[in-house]
Amino acid sequence: MDILVVGGGGREHAIIQKLKQSPQCNAIYCTPGNGGISCDAECFDVAADDIKGVIALSKRLNVDLVFVAPDDPLVAGMVDALENEGIAAFGPNAAAAIIEGSKVFSKRLMKKYNIPTADYEVFDKPADALTYIRRRGQYPTVVKADGLALGKGVILCNDYSEAKDAVKSIMEDKIFGRSGNRIVVEEYLSGPEVSVLAFTDGKTIYPMVSAKDHKRVFDGDLGPNTGGMGTVSPNPHYDEKTAEYCMNNIFVPTIEAMNMEGRPFKGCLFFGLMLTADGPKVIEYNCRFGDPEAQVVLPRLETDFVDILNAIRHQRLSEIKMKWSKDACACVIMASGGYPGKYKKDIEIKGLNQNGQIDGAMVFHAGTKKVNNAFYTNGGRVLGVTAKAETLEKALNRAYESVLRIDFADAHYRRDIGRHRPLG
Ligand code: AMP
Ligand code: GLY
Repeated sequence: MDILVVGGGGREHAIIQKLKQSPQCNAIYCTPGNGGISCDAECFDVAADDIKGVIALSKRLNVDLVFVAPDDPLVAGMVDALENEGIAAFGPNAAAAIIEGSKVFSKRLMKKYNIPTADYEVFDKPADALTYIRRRGQYPTVVKADGLALGKGVILCNDYSEAKDAVKSIMEDKIFGRSGNRIVVEEYLSGPEVSVLAFTDGKTIYPMVSAKDHKRVFDGDLGPNTGGMGTVSPNPHYDEKTAEYCMNNIFVPTIEAMNMEGRPFKGCLFFGLMLTADGPKVIEYNCRFGDPEAQVVLPRLETDFVDILNAIRHQRLSEIKMKWSKDACACVIMASGGYPGKYKKDIEIKGLNQNGQIDGAMVFHAGTKKVNNAFYTNGGRVLGVTAKAETLEKALNRAYESVLRIDFADAHYRRDIGRHRPLG
């Protein structure tokens, strides 16, 4: 099969490296890709959210499948548009991707079908939200923009004045644009967080091995949230009993709920869970592979990835036997100095070979570009340095040893990936 992957981050690099291992995969293309991806796949400069451009490119390349990886094009209906043109696509259609595209939708879904989540109310007027927050008087409280907000639409508020600022910036200053037309005000939950990605064709759901993301920028879970500073798989907090509870009370009920709503989900469904004292609860759904979760989960996949993608498209996932490596996997993100705030670009990255790799680790490129056989920074998160080994400790050591051999000016990474145990 000739496959076009839409996207250009570390997640897409991990997807492409896994696709390349399949004997069924012939040519692999990527748009827009990045410096590291260009060593594995021919890259094009069509933006990931340019639906017309991706359709034209798919026709020109005559591909057998388009893998739509990021949230924006999925929520905007890229899969629907491709299928309308007779082009096979992997990923949920817009009707199903709304599970990530609207927090109001996902909260109402969970309430209607008794799927455990934080208590909440929805508001479309700032004054009503503030009256509610003041009357409830419980802090911290959580204010969330309804729509997509580059992973930044969640504001934790420690008192009324912070809540007032959050409501104003989302609903009046519109810092997330139309995504802030409505908000969810939510109960604050605490406990370890777990990411579980799952393959589903709408009938069968196969959870993948678990992962743990580290969202805060600094060691000890301090500083602002980022897209993710590193991941490990498996997540040490997620035991078999918890997995069984989640399967019966969260995963299966969610795909059944989507079917009941006439929105069958086909693709990768991501459950962001919090293991609270009252049991596991859903913090969020994503309609796609996580980034950087994909970087530690996909290297552990032993079943042919192309078989899985085809089985999902034809709703025959139950016929597939899933095999996972028992090895653990760790990914340390090397970011540009200043990220998630302002940062410089075009800084040369040293220590990588011509393919953008290094001995002893897998280097998934995120914000990089390749010019005359050298690699330069081109984004906030630059590289996901990843290692797989029999134990998590060994995987972490190997990933960190590799990080020390890669260098670019002002590089920043967390030193406690997989080691820091958050409170609660
Ligand atoms: P999200 O963008 O939905 O993944 O939220 C970003 C982060 O905010 C999550 O990973 C949690 O750490 C935190 N968060 C979201 N909702 C809640 C909540 N109800 N209580 C506590 N923390 C939350
Ligand atoms: N790592 C979290 C996400 O992909 O949204």
